[in-house]
Amino acid sequence: MYLYTAQAMREADQRAVAMGYPSLLLMEAAGKQAASRLLQRFEGRAVDVLCGKGNNGGDGLVAARWLAHWGHPVRVYAAEGQTGDAAVARQALLAHGLEIAPLSAWEPAPHSVVLDALFGTGLRGPLEGFYAALVEKVNQSGLPVVAVDLPSGLPHRPHIQADLTVALAGLKNEHLFYPHRAACGRIVLESIGMPPRALHNPHLPEVLCKTSMRPLLPARPGNAHKGLVGRVLVAGGYRSYTGAPSLAALGAYRTGAGLVTVAYPADCVVNPPLEAVRLPLLEWNHADLQAVRAEAVAVGMGAAAGGVRAALAALELGKPTVLDADALHKQVLSAYVKAGLPTVLTPHPGEASRLLEIPSEQIARAPLEAAQALAERYPGLVVVLKGGPTVLAWQPQEAPLSPPLLAVNSSGNPSMATGGMGDVLSGVVAALLAAGLSAWEAARLGVYLHGLAGDLASKPGLLAHEVAEALPSAMRQLQL
Ligand code: ACO
Repeated sequence: MYLYTAQAMREADQRAVAMGYPSLLLMEAAGKQAASRLLQRFEGRAVDVLCGKGNNGGDGLVAARWLAHWGHPVRVYAAEGQTGDAAVARQALLAHGLEIAPLSAWEPAPHSVVLDALFGTGLRGPLEGFYAALVEKVNQSGLPVVAVDLPSGLPHRPHIQADLTVALAGLKNEHLFYPHRAACGRIVLESIGMPPRALHNPHLPEVLCKTSMRPLLPARPGNAHKGLVGRVLVAGGYRSYTGAPSLAALGAYRTGAGLVTVAYPADCVVNPPLEAVRLPLLEWNHADLQAVRAEAVAVGMGAAAGGVRAALAALELGKPTVLDADALHKQVLSAYVKAGLPTVLTPHPGEASRLLEIPSEQIARAPLEAAQALAERYPGLVVVLKGGPTVLAWQPQEAPLSPPLLAVNSSGNPSMATGGMGDVLSGVVAALLAAGLSAWEAARLGVYLHGLAGDLASKPGLLAHEVAEALPSAMRQLQL
């Protein structure tokens, strides 16, 4: 599954038509599926369908026909001047005996639901005049709104504030990135039968989802023992930052690591899970770390001033590594690039801002571009830029001239914005590296699983260890 821009979606539509798939079938599926999703959520309410003049309006006209056909009270308001498939949808609606009123006649009716099919991806510039006023009127009505493909007006202002958005054929940028995502309400994706070959576009960012992540889950062999399924070394901690390495260890164990060893400065009190091996060290040095049997390393969590030394000591082990928090320094990243080891770095926007020397607001505004810039600066290292949503980028060293691979996570929620969440993620990714996944696979699956666990455990006041505890359920759900 890919993340589409309006242009990329138009090209997919055109490819489908060029392959011989009739565009009218796409519109029929879009409208029918939007109608059925609306009924699933708002059964029993009368529906007011607002249709623009383009194909988004055409989808709305199809939806209105099916709602009426299924016996639901429907009022249809539409712009004049449809052409092509939308004009056919209008004729079919009239043939069904429905009437079409002008958009200017719409008044909010109590206990109804609005189906917003005014504008989708074809919008050119912000809404003004009549349409801006109509959008404001819908928003101020207090009625629930279901948007067809995109809330009308996005990505500009004003725009419809929807309760449910039925995304058609593929997710668009507005469905995943804030602030636009907030206008979509709950998002459901409907495939509308578009031929997969038309949707295929490897130049677009991948959307991490159940279907694509399931095959990456490492199988646990029948004769598994703790040395076979991946052992993890966690290196971090400093004075009062003792929870961070413990949470990483918990994340690793709950993702299936066979054995986790936690190395930390001897002058701090670290309480990792009972099942972890403790390795208090007088100083960060590779000889002590070398003694640990591990297939992957997570380093930097809560390591404060010791982060660089810990990461450089860990580098000499020559193992796949997750670099987090205090390990995220330019000198460390350059050394890991040079070593060419499978490496995942997991900065939050503040750390990315320090590494890229740009304001963190710029990173929040354009996270994919920031992740891409980091990946290009540190070729071979997989970048996991944490946020809502978390985005990933990787510039394979063997293909320096091709654009970096990009991915956007679809799991996770705002209740995960609490301390220690990133430490758990480092442990998850390290466990997957230890299980034998490549850095790109481990980062993508780890980010998705961590978000899915957060979704399963979601509640106000969610704590990081509760997300770690939900990881086994997330893995089970992914297996199904
Ligand atoms: N102010 C007022 N009106 C505007 C503005 C603006 N700022 N910007 C654009 N418009 C109007 C234009 O009049 C335009 O109509 P025109 O092209 O006839 O001039 C109209 O808005 C276009 O708006 P949309 O309906 O959003 O654009 P489009 O016709 O491209 O349809 C689509 C969008 C394909 C339905 C998209 O939202 C979508 O759902 N994509 C998923 C794939 C899909 O559903 N495909 C099946 C659809 S049918 C088919 O592709 C033929």
